[in-house]
This record gives sequence, structure tokens and C-alpha cells, in this order.
Amino acid sequence: MGYTTGSLASSILRNGTYATFPAAGFLKETSDRIYELVLEGISEVVSPDARSYLEEHSLTQMHEVMPAEKIGDLRNYVMERYRRNLFDTVCRFARESLGLAGEFYVDDYAILRVNYPYEIAKLASMNTENPGIGRMSKGARSHFVANKREDPVYDPKGYQRNLPPAAWAHGPHQDTWTGHSRDGINLWWAVEKTIPENSMVFYPGYWGHKPQPDPRSLYLHSGYPLSEPKTMQLARGELLVFNPEILHGTHLNVSKKTRVAVSLRINPERPTFSRHCFYAREYWQSSTNIEAGKFDEIIHFERTQNFMDPAKDHNEFDEPMPHKPIEVAARIEPGAAVPCGPVSRFPFGEKVLLKFENASIIVVRSDEKNWNAFDSECPHLGVSLMDGCSDGEKVYCPGCAVKFSLSDGCCMAPSLRLGLYGVKVEDSVVSIVGEHPG
Ligand code: FES
Ligand SMILES: [Fe+2]
Repeated sequence: MGYTTGSLASSILRNGTYATFPAAGFLKETSDRIYELVLEGISEVVSPDARSYLEEHSLTQMHEVMPAEKIGDLRNYVMERYRRNLFDTVCRFARESLGLAGEFYVDDYAILRVNYPYEIAKLASMNTENPGIGRMSKGARSHFVANKREDPVYDPKGYQRNLPPAAWAHGPHQDTWTGHSRDGINLWWAVEKTIPENSMVFYPGYWGHKPQPDPRSLYLHSGYPLSEPKTMQLARGELLVFNPEILHGTHLNVSKKTRVAVSLRINPERPTFSRHCFYAREYWQSSTNIEAGKFDEIIHFERTQNFMDPAKDHNEFDEPMPHKPIEVAARIEPGAAVPCGPVSRFPFGEKVLLKFENASIIVVRSDEKNWNAFDSECPHLGVSLMDGCSDGEKVYCPGCAVKFSLSDGCCMAPSLRLGLYGVKVEDSVVSIVGEHPG
């Protein structure tokens, strides 16, 4: 066992928990240095004036001074200069705060996450990087590129509806679904503060369950209802450590603030991978080498030689609940009421999916008087809202945690609006009325 009994590592790994550390001591020195390097990078890849602007207004306004196309250059600038110190700090943190003992491993893939506001990022070119793209050591990178594996089903561009990569958001997932190691601990540093509308989100209720990924996106398959997303709001410099098998994702950045974070991963034991993912994060550094000042000794844990314990690598998943629609042989037209059956067809609090000839609509009856009807597909990426948490006032998208109002269909991103419909109940018959007046 690579950690001491009763340590934080033990609680994170066994119980699927997480913890936060405020910016203090050597952790603060590290986050301050990254912050400073980001400013230096802005000066280099944009201009000294851009740096001065951000010194005054904070990194949350980065999108005002730098086009999304330059985020990759900024990443190179920061990670090339800070990789060693970062790995050093992580080792110290792992010993002092996580309670790791003996040799452990640090993923060579470290990420400077820059998430521009969605309304800005969606206007960028296709020549941008996804906010979750990291950097490896040079030696690992050339080996990775030469051995890169593709999968015929995995289609992130299609899932993200061909939006520029800078505008992508991660749907709910467990990290082993996406080729990361089993029994790891993720470190996620808020270089700049995060707010609920651009934070990471957790769905801790799925801990210990076996939901299934969708092979097209490697995010949660439809048919698993989600609770209200738990947003991880962090102060500048705060460090979040968590078990990456907690179902988690990114809140689509519907705020007007850029999110800046650094993340990487530790494995107390030799990394192992799922058979079900077609690729794996195979390049690691050992604590022994890092603590001896050797940063270029990459250890390659080849995927097929390092599959995880079959008992942890589920072959059987919890069955998803299929969304069975009720077919209505009619079209929804503005202002016209279409009868859809008796009130008894709509139990309190349950989402009922109605499939018309030209629309797919969810109807929810939250109490005697309060009915809601809205498009079943999210206007962002078309994810089914049947799995999203809702009440009579709002529905959360299960794809990117965005909250849509059920009184006007709006969310915080002006370009995303959910279609709403009227509901009429007369003589115990429910009718849907095309196009809500709001
Ligand atoms: S799919 Fe992204 S907000 Fe709904
Ligand atoms: Fe993740």
C-alpha cells in the first residue's frame, strides 16, 4: 500500500472523497508563480500592454486581450518553464498532505486549463485547442505521437457539434473511461478563482455505482438520471484533490470570466488501465526520480501490459433507463393545442417524453397547477434533458450542468435558449400548445 492508514490519500481512494487546500505556504508559492508565469506568457505571446491590463483586472479577463488561437502558445510558455517546479511541489504535497509513502508515480501529462467564456470561444477558429489539452515531456510526446491510437466510434468533434475546440466542455465521466489510470488522485489548482458557472462539477451520488460511458463521447451514457450538479467553487490558488472515479465534468463556461487552472494526477501504486478504453495515459514519472532531481526519466506503462484488476474493470454496467417516448401522431404548430392524453398519464414529478411528428418534448407536472413543457434536447449539444435534474422552475442539462429557466428558457449564455411550450388541461385532458409566448 502506497499510503499510510488514516491518511487523506486513504480516504480519497477508499471512500471516493475530495478535499480542498487554501493557498498557503509552499502551495501558495506555487500558485503565485504559475499566475506570474501566465502574465509573463501573455506579455510574450500578446503584448506588455495586455499583461498590464490583466494585472489590473485579473486573469479572469484574459479573453479580452488574447484570441483563443493563442492559448496553445501560452500553454507552451508556462508548462515549459514550470514543469519541474510543479512536479517537485506535487511530490512534497503528496508526502506531507496526502500521506503517500514509498515510491509513487506522477502522470507526465500536466494541463494548463484555460476555459474562455462560451460566447467568446464559440466564435474562435477550428485552429484552437480544447481547454483540457495538456503537455508532456518531449520524449514522451514523440513516443505518444508515433503510437497514437484511434477508435472508429469515438467522435468528440461530432459530439461537440463541430464547435471550435476552445469551446468544448467535458460531460460527466469517470477518468478511467477516458484512458486514465485506476486508483489515482487528481490535483486541480485554481490558478484564478472559479465561480459556479465555470467550475468543475461533481455528481457524488454515483460513487460505488457502475454507470456506463457512451463510446461516441466517452461521457455518461444517456439513461442515468443526475442530481443537481455540485459546483466546485474555488478561491484563487486553492487546490482541489479528488478521486477521479467520482462522476465529474465541466460546467460549460456560461459566465463572462475566463477560468484558469492547472491539473495533474498522482498514482500511489503502479498505474493500471481499463480494457474498455482504446487508449491510455501511459507515460509517468516516479517520485524517486523527481525527488532525486531527475525529471527526464519517463516510465512507460504500456496499456496492454498494465490492465487493471478485472474486479474493478466492470464488464457489466448498471442498466441505463431507456427514455421511452409516447408517440403523438400530430405536428406542433404555433398557437395550436394538441391533445396528448389524460392527466393520469403524467405522474407528479416525472418527466414524460412526447414524440410529435416534428418535435420531441418533455412534460413535467410538479404540482396540481404547475406544468412545464420544453424541448427534450439541449440547445447546446442536443443531449437529452430526460436525465437532467429539474423542478417547476429550472432544468439542469446533464451534458454540461447548465441551468435553464423554465419560465423563459434562458440560461446565462444568451445564445442558448431552451424551447418552451404551453400546457393546457381541460376536462382532464392535457394538451401541448406550440411555442410558448415567453
Ligand atoms: S449539452 Fe452542453 S449545456 Fe446541454
Ligand atoms: Fe476528468
